[in-house]
Amino acid sequence: MPIYIIDRKFSETPGESLQPAAEGVLSMAETVPPKSAKKPRWTSLEIGLLTVVSLLFIVIVALIVLFATQRTDSDAVCTTADCTQSASRLIENMDANVDPCDNFYQYACGGWLKKNIIPETSSRYSTFDILRDELEVVLKDVLERTVEGEASALTKAKTLYRSCTNESQIEKRGGAPLLDMLPNVFEWPIATDNWETDYGNTWKLEDAIARLNEKYGTHVLVNFFIGTDDKDSNSHIIHFDQQTSLGLLSRDYYTCTGPYAEPCRAYEQFMIDVAKLIRTDRSLVVNETQIREEVTRVIELEKEIANATDTPEDRNNPVLLYNNMELGVLNANFSLEVDTKVFDWSYFTRKIMGTVGVTVPDTERVINYAPNYYRRLNPVLAKYTKRDLQNYMVWRFVMNMVVGLSRQYRDTRKAFRKALYGTTSEAAVWRQCAIYVNNNMDNRCGKTVRRGGLLWGEQRTDGRDDLCDPGGVHQ
Ligand SMILES: *[C@@H]1O[C@H](CO)[C@@H](O)[C@H](O)[C@H]1NC(C)=O
Ligand SMILES: *[C@@H]1O[C@H](CO)[C@@H](O)[C@H](O)[C@H]1NC(C)=O
Ligand SMILES: *[C@@H]1O[C@H](CO)[C@@H](O)[C@H](O)[C@H]1NC(C)=O
Ligand SMILES: *[C@@H]1O[C@H](CO)[C@@H](O)[C@H](O)[C@H]1NC(C)=O
Repeated sequence: MPIYIIDRKFSETPGESLQPAAEGVLSMAETVPPKSAKKPRWTSLEIGLLTVVSLLFIVIVALIVLFATQRTDSDAVCTTADCTQSASRLIENMDANVDPCDNFYQYACGGWLKKNIIPETSSRYSTFDILRDELEVVLKDVLERTVEGEASALTKAKTLYRSCTNESQIEKRGGAPLLDMLPNVFEWPIATDNWETDYGNTWKLEDAIARLNEKYGTHVLVNFFIGTDDKDSNSHIIHFDQQTSLGLLSRDYYTCTGPYAEPCRAYEQFMIDVAKLIRTDRSLVVNETQIREEVTRVIELEKEIANATDTPEDRNNPVLLYNNMELGVLNANFSLEVDTKVFDWSYFTRKIMGTVGVTVPDTERVINYAPNYYRRLNPVLAKYTKRDLQNYMVWRFVMNMVVGLSRQYRDTRKAFRKALYGTTSEAAVWRQCAIYVNNNMDNRCGKTVRRGGLLWGEQRTDGRDDLCDPGGVHQ
């Protein structure tokens, strides 16, 4: 809008902008003759200066003419549907009854505040959230539509969505899907009996981290991933990084004091409740004292892991993060020890890459994004038993899985969510599931939605427009 106002000013009074400039130039020209009249002949300097002044005069006039005509050209007001809608939205979100000199915030945002309340399912509400909500509706439409002969990846996304929204089936299965998976990740000691004899004797930290990583996408303690090489965008390279996600939102929470006391307490209770529920489902003895003791140790461990991570400020400089070295050097220089067993980086890497049939020699170049984290982590790990470590790692897996289980399991995280986000209710099931599928199969969904021509008016690059062609969902 301000641009529009300025434009009008220029077009209404074009003479005004020309006049003063022209006068200035004239008076400048007038000062020249009296001076020169005193002398019978002009020196070459005077002639030169006069030429320069004349040239400048011509340039200034040309610029003024150019400027004036250009402003007139841009006088056109955008009246397309998009522009009108945007303008109307801006005006709606303002409160013109308030004097901007009294309260600028109210003037600029008063309309938004009057018309919107933060939904119970969310901890914030903004124009980006509105866009996200709209995207979820588009996703719902795409995921619920059946299409003949579509790509198998899309069928998988739809199957995931269907099973996620099938509430009766979810209720019927209770905690079974999770309980069936626990043995695959070497069990959750807190929720089983005889872990030491059944799993502990053959347990290896490398195996446990690798399994959670390659099979379930849970990255704990040692974050292994393959990404683009920061210094060579044509190649991919193995990265080792610190644990990027913690159970609570950031490392600050682990002080557990002041505003963080309640989230910490709710987090602890969340873990206790899930452990009790699983033990009950398995018909095992539930000894609350014992569960609480183990949970306390897990929280202590996570506090120390959080403390060992680099702060976001430490990670500002990408050049310092880029520690390119051979895999063998990791073994020699970054020792992690648990129960007197040394972490074997090569074995760990081969374990993960073996699942996709890739062999990795010790001479393979890798990037260590967090050398200081690994140095600080070693003394931390030394303080805990393998049971504690396994309890922690599988907890992080369990807490992510709970959301897909029956109501009884989902309810264990209610108080935790409230303490963390201030939300009191959950989003509609279809919405949660659209988000879930999008998070887990984001590339697939992105392509699908784009193919449908529905994503924020994005243009197809091949010039075809299959906005209304259901065949556009084909691979
Ligand atoms: C839920 O799953 C069950 C078992 O697979 C199936 O029989 C039922 O039709 C599904 N319900 C819906 C609404 O998809
Ligand atoms: C529960 O566990 C605690 C600590 O491990 C133990 O001292 C107590 O005897 C147990 N209680 C029962 C009823 O088994
Ligand atoms: C956090 O880590 C530093 C060393 O990195 C250590 O000196 C400090 O004691 C740790 N704090 C806690 C609470 O563990
Ligand atoms: C690894 O350790 C060796 C000797 O112990 C040292 O020379 C080398 O600089 C270290 N490399 C890194 C990347 O820390």
